[in-house]
Amino acid sequence: MAYFEWADDMVIDNGVIDQEHRVLVDLVNELHTATSRGMGQTVVASILRRAIDSTREHLTHEEDIMAREGFPDLEEHKLRHQEFMNSLYDLERRLQTGGITVAAQLSRVLRDWLSLHIRRGDKELRRFVQRREREQERAKLQAKIQGRTQAAGQIGMQAGKNGAGRLPGK
Ligand SMILES: [Fe+2]
Ligand SMILES: [Fe+2]
Repeated sequence: MAYFEWADDMVIDNGVIDQEHRVLVDLVNELHTATSRGMGQTVVASILRRAIDSTREHLTHEEDIMAREGFPDLEEHKLRHQEFMNSLYDLERRLQTGGITVAAQLSRVLRDWLSLHIRRGDKELRRFVQRREREQERAKLQAKIQGRTQAAGQIGMQAGKNGAGRLPGK
């Protein structure tokens, strides 16, 4: 069993965001597998570099989507992203200065952040987009009904002008 299992409640868009999250999940598992075989120290620098690059790219991408969608808590969300990047840079510094527990720390930091941030923070984007889509659907339906009511009114007025409904001979 993997150290970190992808779960259905982590789905955000059934698309590229999920794919990017999965890349990070795979990295945590790759690191954990290596650590459990006593190879953590050998692979940690490469995995940390890939984690930093993939995360930075993913967070920028996610923020662009949030801005495009008009996500209301974007600034707050960006702060959470920045904090996470800082914790990765912090681990990188520790590794460069000879830290020997970085592999275990990186596993934990990545796993906890992915699990919590996707399920809470990123999930908000999904809820927001779904709510907005429902509202747009409702507005469209309302406009349609209004259009029909107006058209029916105009037909009624037209019928009145043409004398429809009058009794013959009157
Ligand atoms: Fe996020
Ligand atoms: Fe994300």
